[in-house]
Amino acid sequence: MTQAETGSRVTIDGDRLARMLAEVNQFGALPSGGVQRLAWTDPEVDARAWLLEQCTQAGLDAEQDEVGNIWAWVGTRPAIVLGSHLDTVPNGGGFDGALGVLAALEVHVSAREAGIPEANRLALVCFTDEEGVRFDTGMTGSRAVAGTLSKEELAKVRTPDGHRFADELRERGLEPSRVREAGRRRKDIVSYLELHIEQGRHLEGQGQSLAVVSGIAGLSSWHIQVQGQSNHAGTTQLPDRRDSFLPIAQTALTSRQMMHEFPGLVATVGDAHVVGGASNIVPGMSSCTLDVRGSKEREIQTASQTILRSLEESARENRCRIEMEEVKRLPIVRLDPAVISAIKGAYPGRDEPPVLPSMAGHDAMSLAPAGVPCGMIFVRSRNGMSHCPEEHSSAQDCADGAQWLADAAVGLARELR
Ligand code: GLV
Ligand code: MN
Ligand code: MN
Repeated sequence: MTQAETGSRVTIDGDRLARMLAEVNQFGALPSGGVQRLAWTDPEVDARAWLLEQCTQAGLDAEQDEVGNIWAWVGTRPAIVLGSHLDTVPNGGGFDGALGVLAALEVHVSAREAGIPEANRLALVCFTDEEGVRFDTGMTGSRAVAGTLSKEELAKVRTPDGHRFADELRERGLEPSRVREAGRRRKDIVSYLELHIEQGRHLEGQGQSLAVVSGIAGLSSWHIQVQGQSNHAGTTQLPDRRDSFLPIAQTALTSRQMMHEFPGLVATVGDAHVVGGASNIVPGMSSCTLDVRGSKEREIQTASQTILRSLEESARENRCRIEMEEVKRLPIVRLDPAVISAIKGAYPGRDEPPVLPSMAGHDAMSLAPAGVPCGMIFVRSRNGMSHCPEEHSSAQDCADGAQWLADAAVGLARELR
């Protein structure tokens, strides 16, 4: 009999979930209607402290680990761990990450209310710094748990204005040399389940509200710096110009060309900057990011190389020097077949659930390669929008997603007995 047929006897309270979401989104609320909780800024630190308090009040055994992840345990370890992240991108939305964390809490609270024995085999995690925009790392919390956050990287990572990640941790009361100890909790995770917004428009297009995730696209992320020569914008004629912005413009144009060449692949110059720029100065120094994602490793590689070659050619033409560094390389991740099958078995709909790949990155990208069986459920995103203030999923879709998460988690917990 499937989980959907037996039922988990856990009933999600959609209103309570919506209230908790609204409450957490007061941390970092923007006048635009969006949310900005960059990792390790006050709104994100305060949101995690709020979560810790909520978990404690709910009677869970809550703790912050050595890298800042929040965990809440109920009873026996190892456990089925449910969670996501509370940090956001700049001027982001209130659902990416927050939905998964609060759905996890709602599952715990309602499972305990239901008084079922499986409640004791569930746990919650809120990973810190999933987005990776402030320190340009990403998935720092989950990588510490996976054991793939190196000492060298920790020492090197800093914000664009030079603030070191290690110093930030120290200022927040954590000891950077102990960060890798967060990896001790890996053995306490039987499997990791995350409810997340789709962040695309497939579900809306199919008239569906929920999907099970099959895998996560691979990612290659670069930092590029171009050195030309600043000079007077009015007096510097074409032969004398060494405009550092042109190779960056070329990088963005070739990125678009690669998307035509490899349908499904995406390439983005998301942050471009003229250092000390002004309307009357030829850009002397510029920098940008490049983010290439796809579901075929070969295409990610070919597209990245082609884009970077066009950058080099443009730099030569414009007599500029470039420095580039691949700051993140995450291979394509397939989610765990047994966990996917448990999620499918708990699907509340009559037919088979839609199955979708994820083009966005998630903490499962760090956990799955470290041997943690991972599964994810997607909730429909309005107009497919995300990483912007317009990000939205209806309260009903969120509640339905949380109910599916509860049923899948209880089904997996039942197998542990
Ligand atoms: C995180 O949301 C990412 O996909 O970069
Ligand atoms: Mn996310
Ligand atoms: Mn995100």
